Amino acid sequence: MSMNLITVLYLIASVCFIQALKGLSHPTTSRRGNLFGMIGMAIAVLTTIALIYKLGAELATQGIGYVIVGLLIGGTAGTIMAKRVEMTKMPELVAFMHSMIGLAAVFIAIAAVAEPQSLGIVAAMADPIPAGNRLELFLGAAIGAITFSGSVIAFGKLSGKYKFRLFQGAPVVFKGQHLLNLAVGLVIVGLGLMYTFTGDVTAFAILVVLAFVIGVLIIIPIGGADMPVVVSMLNSYSGWAAAGIGFSLNNSMLIIAGSLVGSSGAILSYIMCKAMNRSFFNVILGGFGAEAGSAAAGEQVQRNVKSGSSDDAAFLLTNADTVVIVPGYGLAVARAQHALMELAEKLTHRGVNVKYAIHPVAGRMPGHMNVLLAEAEVPYEQVFEMEDINSEFGQTDVVLVLGANDVVNPAAKTDPKSPIAGMPILEAYKAKTVIVNKRSMASGYAGLDNELFYMDKTMMVFGDAKKVIEDMVKAVD
Ligand code: TAP
Repeated sequence: MSMNLITVLYLIASVCFIQALKGLSHPTTSRRGNLFGMIGMAIAVLTTIALIYKLGAELATQGIGYVIVGLLIGGTAGTIMAKRVEMTKMPELVAFMHSMIGLAAVFIAIAAVAEPQSLGIVAAMADPIPAGNRLELFLGAAIGAITFSGSVIAFGKLSGKYKFRLFQGAPVVFKGQHLLNLAVGLVIVGLGLMYTFTGDVTAFAILVVLAFVIGVLIIIPIGGADMPVVVSMLNSYSGWAAAGIGFSLNNSMLIIAGSLVGSSGAILSYIMCKAMNRSFFNVILGGFGAEAGSAAAGEQVQRNVKSGSSDDAAFLLTNADTVVIVPGYGLAVARAQHALMELAEKLTHRGVNVKYAIHPVAGRMPGHMNVLLAEAEVPYEQVFEMEDINSEFGQTDVVLVLGANDVVNPAAKTDPKSPIAGMPILEAYKAKTVIVNKRSMASGYAGLDNELFYMDKTMMVFGDAKKVIEDMVKAVD
């Protein structure tokens, strides 16, 4: 295969990746986007194998067996994990994947430093690695190491399964933490520059170890609630690490794919921060939601709420002209999307105008609610984003809040001291009647009490969302 053909194939793969990102930006085109991504990746992998053969027949025959075995093991493990993963556990899986990308970048950088000839960075028997390449290797290895250890901590915090202190959702903060991080960061940069200008391999080795350490240090003070933003940020890092390594290996595909991942991850982090009305630095500096949970828990005990049954809720829904459904994390946990679709169909059949309102950070990952509703084949024209539907709540007869909490918490608008103050919310409290389904009065992800639940116009229907919605369906019948 000629070098020109390899370049053209890489270009085609890059166009597929761009099409994948474009497709993934909307639920209606997301399947097509995924298909483009898979085709692009297949072209990229096969072309790279062809490139290995081109670079040196002897080298290729020695190493290609390992590459194929690696592809088979990684591909099989990835397929099994992706098939088994529950939607609510997706951020953990993504964190795990990023940790692997980061580690791959570190391994490639170490291999390149140890044997630059084998990776084609310098010609056989030539001088040491040029300074420019050393800079790229330093950046790729350092960012890769931070991505790896940071993603491992994010994985632990998201899963909540491990007793290990660093894996707890609560932020781990101590005196002088930011100063320590700054100092370690500066040492890493210093060692990186030393390696760049002198080629000192010991400096490279120490900086890699320190980068693993700082990856842990910068993620531990961030609370579990902010982990999805962190995962998206680490996603961005993994892309930049890959791009850095791509420059060293002179591989245009890695540079393009890495930059696409790096920039899209950064944009996603920005969008998520904006939807939560948090600054990026506020998330990174950590500590969010640490005290709020306990304060709210104390308050909940003393207050009364109005509660009703599924039958009461069904009565209100069937007598309404307009109903807006607000899905939240609890709906995903209960896997109640199909029952919900059935309920909405029955209401529509009875002449009720049913719409769905989606908050950009409802659930636990970007687009979580869109994916959930798409699974149940809810018609896209009934699904509205927050900015398109907020003006309608005032004229809505009944808002049905299903397993959502923070995204409808009026404290974001009314209490300047609230940790979620300023976060844009779905203005469900403006509707004539509000029905809220959740299992208890427990708080949501931000650990806050919710004034909406105590309003006169609100009726709580306690229970698992699936059971409650199925009962509503029966009652509507
Ligand atoms: P949350 O505020 O987390 O509330 C979910 C509610 O669902 C809980 O209060 C829980 O109450 C209820 N629930 C749990 N299991 C249930 C079940 N089986 N049946 C019925 N109810 C159930 O969810 P939200 O309103 O979707 O808000 C999302 C939160 O995650 C926000 O704070 C957001 O900032 C944060 N977050 C999201 C993202 C993304 S990208 N989506 C990223 C970062 C942070 P009970 O235990 O009483 O049932």
